[in-house]
Amino acid sequence: MRLERTRQTEHLGSVSIYGVRRVLELDSGAKNPQINENAEVQKIEREAIDEIEKKMVIVLPIMNEDVKVFEGVLSAMPHECFIIVLSNSQRGEIDTFRVEQDILSRFCQTTKRQALIVHQKDPAMARALSEAGYPEILGEDGLIRNGKSEGMILGILLSKLLSKEYVGFIDTDNYIPGAALEYVKHYAAAFSLAKTPYVMTRIQWRYKPKIMGELYFKKWGRVSEITNKHLNNLVSAMGKFETDILKTGNAGEHAMSLALAERLNYGTGYAVETEELISILEQFTGMLPITNKDASEKGVEVFQTETVNPHLHADKGDEHVVLEMMQPSLSVIYHSPLCQEKTRELILTELVEAGCLEPGQEPPPVRLMPPPQKADMARFSGSLSADLHRFFVPEGLPLPVAGGRGIGEQVKKVVFTDLDGTLLHPGTYSYTPALATLRQVQSKEIPLVFCSSKTRGEQEMLRQELGVGDPFITENGAAVFIPKGYFHRPHSYDKVVGDYTALELGISYQEVKHKLGQVLDEVRAKLLKNAWLGSLTVSCFGDMSVEEVAMETGLNLKAAELAKQREYSETMKVQGGKQAVELFLVELKKAGLNHAFGGRFYTVSGGNDKGKAVKLLTELYKLNFGAVMTFGIGDSENDTPMLTAVDQPMQVQNQSQRWTKLKVPQLVFVRGIGPEGWSRCMTELVA
Ligand code: GDD
Repeated sequence: MRLERTRQTEHLGSVSIYGVRRVLELDSGAKNPQINENAEVQKIEREAIDEIEKKMVIVLPIMNEDVKVFEGVLSAMPHECFIIVLSNSQRGEIDTFRVEQDILSRFCQTTKRQALIVHQKDPAMARALSEAGYPEILGEDGLIRNGKSEGMILGILLSKLLSKEYVGFIDTDNYIPGAALEYVKHYAAAFSLAKTPYVMTRIQWRYKPKIMGELYFKKWGRVSEITNKHLNNLVSAMGKFETDILKTGNAGEHAMSLALAERLNYGTGYAVETEELISILEQFTGMLPITNKDASEKGVEVFQTETVNPHLHADKGDEHVVLEMMQPSLSVIYHSPLCQEKTRELILTELVEAGCLEPGQEPPPVRLMPPPQKADMARFSGSLSADLHRFFVPEGLPLPVAGGRGIGEQVKKVVFTDLDGTLLHPGTYSYTPALATLRQVQSKEIPLVFCSSKTRGEQEMLRQELGVGDPFITENGAAVFIPKGYFHRPHSYDKVVGDYTALELGISYQEVKHKLGQVLDEVRAKLLKNAWLGSLTVSCFGDMSVEEVAMETGLNLKAAELAKQREYSETMKVQGGKQAVELFLVELKKAGLNHAFGGRFYTVSGGNDKGKAVKLLTELYKLNFGAVMTFGIGDSENDTPMLTAVDQPMQVQNQSQRWTKLKVPQLVFVRGIGPEGWSRCMTELVA
């Protein structure tokens, strides 16, 4: 892009406001070091724009807009920008929000990108903001209030969660996709020129066409003219020299570095854009006590650029413009401690003339919301972690989380994985297809928690082979073993076993065996009396020789020996008539024993399941790492409690290349048998 250099700059303390720059060329072609630019021209290389776009979120506020227009705006968003759609559209019988979700999801599927769509009234968002200590955005009903500016604040916080650097806003009632694309290019161009991390850029439209008998290319909106005039009065009085530098007081189309965005106050409703400027003047010019030392030292820059595309948007009538836009915009200027008496008087005259106020009245103050940096991001993302996947489209893709840092710097990813049939091939027990990806998971320092019906001995062997040093869950959730010193905060435990502390959730093997014996005796007696129920054969690992276990399972002798070393559960092969088996399983439950089917064998234990152990361990991770995002991967029925307990459940295919039917909400089906599927979804997770 080639921009005209601006000659006009106002310096007020640490704040530099640049005059409006015109675009000379939207695309300035490839880099050519041989060309010397004219002194009047500022060239911004394509590569520089590309780099900024990768770090930018574009927030699209939407409330019941024409969906065709919305589609147009979406299609204009540069591919590398991350889109967050913030909707306050109608729900219920006519669910406009659902339509927006579908459109965005289809758009992302076809264009191979990922985006976020959030309804402003989603209770999970309100809860997260409240837990993060930012309740000022909530209404009496406990949900986020109506308003584009409330949506913008949520957009800023979500952009922070995604660890982006810049956030830009574009209204979704824009009829000209080319204009929307141009706004993003302007944002990126300005950011690439910035000399400070605290930067804002605002768009001035070249023309805003109106139908006045015929199409008329109007340059100024009435409210903009008035707001700019009074803002300039304020700035002139502050600098003691008259200026008309500000031309973008109400610029809905604007963007900021997150470093600046999170430090500003926001006015509710249409006061938002004016208040952003007022907040910059109040905080960084030094006229009022300095609160942000770093920004004051490094400086704050405000860019303004003029577009070549006209701005054509839905016309919502004049009434709304004066009452909802002009009065709040002028009110934030009027109530600023920087505003001088003379400017105040002029504002009052303006508002009385416009019929907004009676003589002698003052404009009511606009509700101000504090800087988003007040929100505790660890709590915000922690509170959202269970819901976050709902907001991403297309559904089913792993969340765009990076390394062990996760969404936002603070989220720690933890993977809970089943072993037999999942990390280990259901037939051969091989983990080879998953090995390379497992190494990537380890290199990202993502904890890999084994959660299996296998015994401690079996899991220890595998941990040693694979070099996995994270806690592990044995015998179908009966115990959690945590390497000593793994967590920096102390935690309670039931006993110490070698180098681990152990949290026991299940009853002992002896107790399980005793109860199981009793149940078997009773069931066998019943079956004798009711021969029509059929026969029942139960063979327990504990009663088999090592060789027999090896034969039954296909394990080698060493592994079979370890499989027999049970501490909390018994593994058994159950055969017989359908009714006899059902009777047995019902009687087990009555006796207080759980059973879980892992595909070939049943594991019987007392009082535990994988889900309880996963929840317990997740709490410890949260206690030690703050916000945590949990992933679970399994293949069969006994994984259901584990998959239900994690934020993102995933299922690999069984030996017949199918997904065993599991009742788990939000389950992501991954192609590939056992370790092949494991590798596929972990590749996405670490990417
Ligand atoms: N999330 C959300 N929540 N979005 C909203 C809400 C809300 O409560 N209300 C409106 N929007 C969306 C609209 O769908 C549209 O995309 C955008 O916010 C702007 O809303 P409009 O109601 O169309 O505003 P406008 O066109 O009158 O005013 C625009 O230009 C002004 C300057 O002329 C806005 O950008 C103003 O903020 C700006 O001051």
